[in-house]
Amino acid sequence: MFNWIGTKCTRRRFLELSGATVSVLPLAAKAGPASLLGSSANAFSLRAAPGRAQLGHGETVDATVWAYNGSTPGPEIRVRQGERLRVKVQNFLSENTTVHWHGVRTPNRMDGVPDLTQAPIAPGEEFFYEFDAKDAGTFWYHPHQRSFEQVGRGLYGPLIVEEPEPPKVDREVVWMLDDWRLTPDGQISEDFGNRHDMSHNGRVGNVVTINGRRDRTFGVRPNERIRLRLINAANARIFGLDFKGHTPRVVALDGQPVTPHAPKDDMVVLGPAMRADLILDMTDKPGVRHRVIDRFYSGLEYELIELTYGETPLRPKAPDWPVPQLPANPLREPSLDHAIRHEIVFNGGMMGGDYMARLGGKMPDRTASMMGMMHADNIWFLNGVAATGHVMDPMLTLARDRSHVVTLKNATAWRHPMHLHGHSFRVLTRNGAPTAHREWQDTVLMAPGETVEIAFVADNPGDWMFHCHILEHQASGMMGVVRVA
Ligand code: C2O
Ligand code: CU
Repeated sequence: MFNWIGTKCTRRRFLELSGATVSVLPLAAKAGPASLLGSSANAFSLRAAPGRAQLGHGETVDATVWAYNGSTPGPEIRVRQGERLRVKVQNFLSENTTVHWHGVRTPNRMDGVPDLTQAPIAPGEEFFYEFDAKDAGTFWYHPHQRSFEQVGRGLYGPLIVEEPEPPKVDREVVWMLDDWRLTPDGQISEDFGNRHDMSHNGRVGNVVTINGRRDRTFGVRPNERIRLRLINAANARIFGLDFKGHTPRVVALDGQPVTPHAPKDDMVVLGPAMRADLILDMTDKPGVRHRVIDRFYSGLEYELIELTYGETPLRPKAPDWPVPQLPANPLREPSLDHAIRHEIVFNGGMMGGDYMARLGGKMPDRTASMMGMMHADNIWFLNGVAATGHVMDPMLTLARDRSHVVTLKNATAWRHPMHLHGHSFRVLTRNGAPTAHREWQDTVLMAPGETVEIAFVADNPGDWMFHCHILEHQASGMMGVVRVA
């Protein structure tokens, strides 16, 4: 049987541990780090099954969730760069599933896309995933089968690939952010995949958790340096975290190193599926408290958690060693002079107020005709096509080992975090202006009406998904296949 999480005993144990443990994951002690298989050091086992979690109302109400190894998030999978991972996945759900290793450049047949890269794992069956961790960084895993519901019910977990020589910090912490749509009695609202969520901004929840919990405070020590790995596992919510009283430095985005920098407008923005690694120096005095607020949606700010300083400084002064530039991963640099150019245009969805206003109340013909074509799972279009499943004719075919520049045009009134499987890409420009860091990403958040250019070497052969990671958008058409051949 799966472990039940959220018992009083577990919570107490978690609270005792959470001040001191390296990565803050509920139930690590009970569910165990993904249990070891045999003697091989990097063999893990994940069981997808219904479970229980306290998400809403204090200590008393358990919600039914779907979870890996009985906890949401599932166990942390942590390996060293260059090592090989083996993961046995067992399906104890009553529907098919798969596991996708988000951001990890696996061989195509290990990518976990149902029907496209593997037969889905039927109830009662299992599948063995095996691949090398080529890139160090912060990644995560989740199902790709009906992900709007499977991820939304709690199936996801962190996948951390450590650098051979990790930068010096006092503590490393993983915060896997999620939100849940709960009913007044603390259960998960069953309205998955409803047409309103699909055609607007997705399933945004009413309860936000860090590592599946709603802790109010996070204890820190004066003059401590923390590496905080943030992962947005929400179906649709975009986070904009402001660490009041602190200056975080962003050292990696989507697992890939970036020139260390303070976040623009003091806000770390993470669309669904995106990650950021921060160096956070605890520069204030014993006993003080600072709020971490999420202020992405203006007018809807709330306090995510409070940093509470302990009485005993870790060292007499703030760390004076430099913020590390993480070593680059072995990604091939695209050659822009010789790149082949492509374009992907997104259409569909309901019209938003501002967008209509900008158009003077008139709907562009193309969008209007798209809307006429809309039905329940046919709401969003990439280059005029709404996906109805994972298997489709390629939207783009990319010559293997060549450099490619893809212009993404968001002709909708909504934000979209667009994710490409099997590759990381450089984000070159936004609305024609060069980006500050030419960051490597696997998921790029696009504003309504925005145009973004990305570039990469198509060096991983196979059929790869390109889709919006607002999972309701993906489920209602916003997905296509990019073939590398
Ligand atoms: Cu996070 Cu197509 O996936
Ligand atoms: Cu979208």
